[in-house]
Amino acid sequence: MKTASHSEAALEETMESITPSQANVHPALRRIVLTGFMGSGKTTLGRLIAARLGWNFLDLDHYIESRTGLSVPDIFALHGEPHFRRLESTALVSALGKSNTVIALGGGTPEILTNRLLLEQTPATATIFLDAPFSVLFDRCVLQGISRPVLADPTLAELRFAQRQPVYRALAHHTIDTSAIEANEAVEAMVIALTIAPKRTR
Ligand code: S3P
Repeated sequence: MKTASHSEAALEETMESITPSQANVHPALRRIVLTGFMGSGKTTLGRLIAARLGWNFLDLDHYIESRTGLSVPDIFALHGEPHFRRLESTALVSALGKSNTVIALGGGTPEILTNRLLLEQTPATATIFLDAPFSVLFDRCVLQGISRPVLADPTLAELRFAQRQPVYRALAHHTIDTSAIEANEAVEAMVIALTIAPKRTR
């Protein structure tokens, strides 16, 4: 995605222009998981590809927020990151139980071994890594203005980015570089990837 973020109006417009079509992805596929660092477009593109396929969309952070009644920054502030990670793992188990669902992970979800094993072992699930350089992601996050505890210290955030890159890569069946393409191009790239590589669909 070239721009920092899609405004809600632009997103609505893009979603309205999308025709649901189940025919394009491998028929055995039941879940599509989007992974990548903060600002990589997991939520924006997740909504779009779900609309494109006529599937449900689940954003793991929002799911945790609706289950706890607390915002993610509040969970970090009140209970600490380890507690957030436990909630995240429980939410992931529940999310992976759903069919015909696009799941946007949190940027840190794959850091936890249990979560990686869950993702690797859940059948009929394709994981897509939305990649971009740290500078691009950081600028997008700043422009989005969403409170993200892990971004509070940019130097530490960049370290985490470097540590997570190999983890995202190892987990992914497909990688899409989102730094220089529009959202609708990224969606089409995902649909094509999910069509031509059914063997890599667990
Ligand atoms: C986090 C990313 C956030 C959210 C939490 C921690 C991380 O999700 O889960 O603030 O550790 O990278 P997004 O990637 O959707 O911003």
